[in-house]
Amino acid sequence: SKDKLWGGRFTQPTDKFVEEFTASINFDKRLYHQDIRGSIAHATMLGKQGIIPLEDVELIVKGLKEILEQIEAGTFDFSVSLEDIHMNIEARLSAKIGDAGKRLHTGRSRNDQVALDIRLYLRDELVEISAYLDLLMDSLIYQAEENLGVVMPGFTHLQTAQPILFSHHMMAYHEMLKRDKGRMEDCLKRTNVLPLGAGALAGTTFPIDREHVAELLEFPEVTRNSLDSVSDRDFALEFCSAASILMMHLSRFSEELILWSTSEFKFVDLSDSFCTGSSIMPQKKNPDVPELVRGKTGRVYGNLMALLTVMKSLPLAYNKDMQEDKEPLFDTIDTVKGSLKVFADMVREMRINPTRMGQAAGAGFSTATDVADYLVRKGLPFRDAHEVVGKAVRYCIENEMDIPELSLAEWQLFSGKIDKDIFACITVEASVNARKATGGTALERVKAEIERAKEGR
Ligand code: ARG
Repeated sequence: SKDKLWGGRFTQPTDKFVEEFTASINFDKRLYHQDIRGSIAHATMLGKQGIIPLEDVELIVKGLKEILEQIEAGTFDFSVSLEDIHMNIEARLSAKIGDAGKRLHTGRSRNDQVALDIRLYLRDELVEISAYLDLLMDSLIYQAEENLGVVMPGFTHLQTAQPILFSHHMMAYHEMLKRDKGRMEDCLKRTNVLPLGAGALAGTTFPIDREHVAELLEFPEVTRNSLDSVSDRDFALEFCSAASILMMHLSRFSEELILWSTSEFKFVDLSDSFCTGSSIMPQKKNPDVPELVRGKTGRVYGNLMALLTVMKSLPLAYNKDMQEDKEPLFDTIDTVKGSLKVFADMVREMRINPTRMGQAAGAGFSTATDVADYLVRKGLPFRDAHEVVGKAVRYCIENEMDIPELSLAEWQLFSGKIDKDIFACITVEASVNARKATGGTALERVKAEIERAKEGR
């Protein structure tokens, strides 16, 4: 136990297996940069406050910078018996510079230190994730603009409902991602608060200056309660929640791309570089990327549930259980970034099939609602118009026809109010362009929304 930073009160060494079981170094070493940055700020403040000698601060800062270089060069030897990243770095510092290194932890605990490190880490990742969201939103705008005017069927219950613009469909995902970005930005506000200075749980007896540390580390705020500072993982939960919603959106989009890639739909052709073949069936081109993103949504939900469950019964303040926060958090960050990156490229490169989409848009009685609306304009109450068109659809089904094939004489079997101006109402273009209210699928509307989206970024 003599090699441990906390060895004083122990007489027996830690069991080897327990040492490995309790260690977090294998996954928290990715916090090395944040840990060193935090320690430099802490030491600088201790020096300014006269809590430790300024010569020691100098040695600490120099030593920590050397350790940083070593870690980045891959020459730092991480030790499991030193448990975590905090003690690995601190022990190495003391081995390098002696007593000065041993003064670094004055007025600090690993409890507020780890809270600081995770916040610093997540803060940067949130900014990166927002940038990835921008990339995917740009790809959606690109597809929407490239294919302006392409009509496709809109679905409810996965049954043909009404014709819509393909661009309108792309911009629907743009809206979702914009909200996702808003959630990430919101999460950043609550992540961007300095917890250091809480000590183990109750604060510290030393005359520290937390506001100064906040300034050095660019935190706009400091936490207001030491117990809460070391117990709170809300910010990580908020991130995992926002990430779950974001992945849910990507999963829905994946599902549509998979469906649209089938030989039955043939609405889109994903680039070969985002698909794989089959080892037995020579004709296959499988949409692996959207399938995998749909599948990875499961682990992101799982991570949220894991972290919620870790936190649910913990008494204040720090408990070792909380070491289990890191893997779900890191895995969520990695999964979300990877999924957004691959989606941004895949969406930009996908090619759509306007002919197939257009054919499908005009089939399946997709303009039935337009006929009903036409009758309303001729004075029929909507419910009666609905009944009339329902009968015309039944006639079509019985005669294996679709709405565009009905003659004027046939239309007039169902209502005397129908005249030859009906034909101009039931083209897919007329159907789409008649939906002009804010948020509708009319071409002029969708164009305006694309412009708005471009200005808004
Ligand atoms: N490795 C620990 C964690 O990730 C650091 C904090 C340890 N604090 C303690 N009192 N054991 O949570």
